[in-house]
Amino acid sequence: MTCDTDYITLHERLRALIGGVPHETANLANAAALLYESLERLNWAGFYLAEGKTLVLGPFQGRPACIEIPFGRGVCGTAAAEDRTVRVDNVHLFPGHIACDGASNSELVIPLHAHGEVVGVLDLDSPVFARFTDEDCAGLERFAAILESELFR
Ligand code: SME
Repeated sequence: MTCDTDYITLHERLRALIGGVPHETANLANAAALLYESLERLNWAGFYLAEGKTLVLGPFQGRPACIEIPFGRGVCGTAAAEDRTVRVDNVHLFPGHIACDGASNSELVIPLHAHGEVVGVLDLDSPVFARFTDEDCAGLERFAAILESELFR
């Protein structure tokens, strides 16, 4: 599948939205809204934020979602515990996947950092199997890096 997202423009729009705005929740909410309107074939886009070793639901777009995810559980908890991007082409085959929306078939989770620690994750769900390409991973990791540099100082 080819990538249909212009990540250069997406990154510019993110910087324009959150640059100089000193409100973390507002910035994460706008970032979730930007992702949800910019990427095709998503059914959920948003954030979980770490409180100790628990991820707690943050700003998002999509259906209501589970509130707490322990580090190590599900796709989000795995990305947080292992501090790595986790791309799942078929969530039904992922051990421990937490199904918040039965429509989800693939998922991409990217850890967010401050001072070398995982402080949350960016989570994207799609109803399409294998929705996320290598180019999406790179573009969304860059998106997460822009958020980190503006938000979690
Ligand atoms: N599927 C995730 C849970 C969060 S929802 O996708 C919004 C997981 O397995 O961690």
